[in-house]
Amino acid sequence: MTASLEEVAYKLAAGGKGLLAADESASTIKKRFDAIGVESTEENRRDYREMLFRSEAMTQYISGVILFDETIRQKAKDGTPLVSLIEAAGSIPGIKVDLGAHPQPGCPGETITEGLDGLAGRFKEYYDLGARFAKWRAVIDIGQHIPSYTSILANAQALARYAALAQAAGIVPIVEPEVLMDGDHDIDRCYDVTEWVLKEVFQQLFYGRVKLEGTVLKPNMVIAGKKSQKQASVEEVAAKTIRCLKNCVPSAIPSVAFLSGGQSDEEATAHLDAMIRQGGLPWNLTFSYGRALQAAPQKAWSGKPENVAAGQAAFTHRARMNYLAALGQWTPESEEKKAA
Ligand code: 13P
Repeated sequence: MTASLEEVAYKLAAGGKGLLAADESASTIKKRFDAIGVESTEENRRDYREMLFRSEAMTQYISGVILFDETIRQKAKDGTPLVSLIEAAGSIPGIKVDLGAHPQPGCPGETITEGLDGLAGRFKEYYDLGARFAKWRAVIDIGQHIPSYTSILANAQALARYAALAQAAGIVPIVEPEVLMDGDHDIDRCYDVTEWVLKEVFQQLFYGRVKLEGTVLKPNMVIAGKKSQKQASVEEVAAKTIRCLKNCVPSAIPSVAFLSGGQSDEEATAHLDAMIRQGGLPWNLTFSYGRALQAAPQKAWSGKPENVAAGQAAFTHRARMNYLAALGQWTPESEEKKAA
């Protein structure tokens, strides 16, 4: 029996499990590999992701994996499709379908995410390849005169068109409007921009006839810019993020899965944990981390076959920390107990 959109959307954030965002584009994974001295060949990318998908983390802590187009078609060394490894672990395969953020005409310093043309046909193919959810990322930068409403609106409309096409294909859309933490803005500026963006996104999802019960939101946390002199405490990030979400995100949305966006591994975990501990939330909250789940295993692996077990242990540890956070049971001491 095929699971309904509602079931899949709910399952992605249930029971403390969360998502692994392993959908780095060719240029992004090259950057990550450059940092550990590994050449970005198709085989190395396959070996690295196979290592993750065969780790213990997958059966216990990871509800779904967001894949890149290349990966959803790849086979493990022994010929098993990587998608089958994910399914065998009890996790759900997903696919990034946007074609990246490109300069938006008339909006200096801003981008619009491309990839709508032909998307209905691509969804059909991805469904046949095993994808049951998808991701589309809109990027909103904060600067002196940005964001503009022109850019927020265009990105929100694209997210809504993508989400409607996904649902028509039987695929759960992850709607990701990411407000970047790259600038020197303080947390309150991030709050205001995130609120503005989320309000517009849900307005456009409504106009786009998107079923919220079959949708997952992937937001940024409300957090000070990386270059801000005024960094906020864990409690402040948690309180402001939840206040912002409560003001913008209808309770019909079953699952909210945060991106890590450049936070350190432990910060991303601590923030999630602090939010869950507030209690009384209308949605299941969890993680959908890329960097905050993969930085440690990438370093431990460093492209060497003899390091596969160490890479898997590092990934399982980070996934377990975030699983505990999604249950509101993480403490800094949990970090000491490395997975066996
Ligand atoms: P980060 O957690 O590294 O921000 O990546 C998540 C993601 O999927 C960004 O689109």
